[in-house]
Amino acid sequence: MAAIVDVRQVSKHYRRGEERIAALDSVSFQVARPSVVAIAGPSGSGKSTLLGMLARFEQPDSGSIHLDGAALDALPEHELDAFRNRKLGFVFQNFNLVGTLTAQENVELALATCALPKRERRKAASETLALVGMEHRLDHTPAQLSGGQQQRVAIARALVNRPKLVIADEPTGNLDSKTAQQMLELVDRLHRDLGTTFIIATHDQRVMDMAGQVLRLEDGKVAA
Ligand SMILES: Nc1ncnc2c1ncn2[C@@H]1O[C@H](COP(=O)(O)OP(=O)(O)OP(=O)(O)O)[C@@H](O)[C@H]1O
Ligand SMILES: [Mg+2]
Repeated sequence: MAAIVDVRQVSKHYRRGEERIAALDSVSFQVARPSVVAIAGPSGSGKSTLLGMLARFEQPDSGSIHLDGAALDALPEHELDAFRNRKLGFVFQNFNLVGTLTAQENVELALATCALPKRERRKAASETLALVGMEHRLDHTPAQLSGGQQQRVAIARALVNRPKLVIADEPTGNLDSKTAQQMLELVDRLHRDLGTTFIIATHDQRVMDMAGQVLRLEDGKVAA
């Protein structure tokens, strides 16, 4: 069986004027089976850059990334959206919910490009919101939800397509300690119940403690 994530010798440089920054320097790692993986490391070590490559928001300068057996660099531009929809979910630090839409509508939005009829989309969204314990807040807009509740809606949105891989950048960064703990318990449960792999960039020791695998970056390199 192909690895869920297979990153080989990935490098990425940024140029700012005369300065050349090695954001990632020959990074390799594999995730063989459903797991929670923490990407740790100091500020500027390349965590967000790596997540951006996994979602193919950006392309590496060199090296290869395979997700579930598919080579990311071989995917034509016009297939990217469909590929991301099928295989990936994202959770951002600031949740990135649409302020004018309800929780239910925010989650449905992630199904906008799939062929399901409206009624089915509504059902999938409300079922996934129930999975994260938000069935009592379907009609609330983000401003009417707490930070932890918004994060749960963001997780539901990432999961509604049942992707194999969810990528999260500092998902506990804006949560108080108790809410962060609840979010981690949720991630652990979803990983076990749905077989979802989570890759989480984080400074949070608790995320590292619960992860099955921790990848430490330092100056764009995998630390020993
Ligand atoms: N678009 C860009 N142009 C130039 N340099 C960049 C760009 N994006 C990132 N960098 C640089 O690449 C390095 C890695 O940045 P990255 O955002 O991946 O770090 P990070 O580990 O996510 O940090 P943090 O923990 O602060 O979020 C940093 O030195 C950063 O300044
Ligand atoms: Mg970052």
